[in-house]
Amino acid sequence: MKKFVLGFIVAILILLIGCLAYFALGFSHTRADTKPSALEISILQSAVRASVRRAAASVPNSLPANDDDLVAGGKLYVAGCQGCHGDLGGPYHEDRDLFPPTPQLPHVGTQYAEPELYWIVKHGIRMTGMSAYGPFYSEKQLWSLAAFLRRINNLPPGMLEKIRPKKTG
Ligand code: HEC
Repeated sequence: MKKFVLGFIVAILILLIGCLAYFALGFSHTRADTKPSALEISILQSAVRASVRRAAASVPNSLPANDDDLVAGGKLYVAGCQGCHGDLGGPYHEDRDLFPPTPQLPHVGTQYAEPELYWIVKHGIRMTGMSAYGPFYSEKQLWSLAAFLRRINNLPPGMLEKIRPKKTG
């Protein structure tokens, strides 16, 4: 039994040292212009989702957004976010430059709930292109962005025109 426990501990240590050596010796890839393995993608994405879910669990739900809030959120999106996340009402362009790639929100929408979206915009996602916007927006603006993002690929009729009035002349 003693031998078994010792063998188990040694195996764990070897595994741990192997993992550390893999990273310390530079075997992991960091370039953004090659596709990472499916394993890396799934581990990283689920870690981000789980972390956001946990962190945002204590964020209270805001009051339901009205049309004015959605328009305000949409205008903030157009001014500050669409350069990376995709033009509102524009064609789909896959992000091939960043990893993790920037989700093209007007086309793919998001699976996050409003408090989670509020939390992401406020705090950002570490080691990605998504920075923390908390210092730049008021609480009201963060919630209007969250409400807008929740509906970004399913906006009520006429909303797009209110956010981006067509240029005349
Ligand atoms: C420099 C490019 C860039 C800008 C500008 C940017 N983002 Fe992001 N954003 C990203 C990247 C990259 C990710 C993906 C991070 C990941 O996969 O973990 C992301 C992820 C997100 C997500 C998570 C979406 C999902 O469903 O996975 C939200 C919400 C978001 N951004 C909102 C915003 C808002 C709102 C703004 C403007 C205030 C903004 N972003 C500006 C690059 C950007």
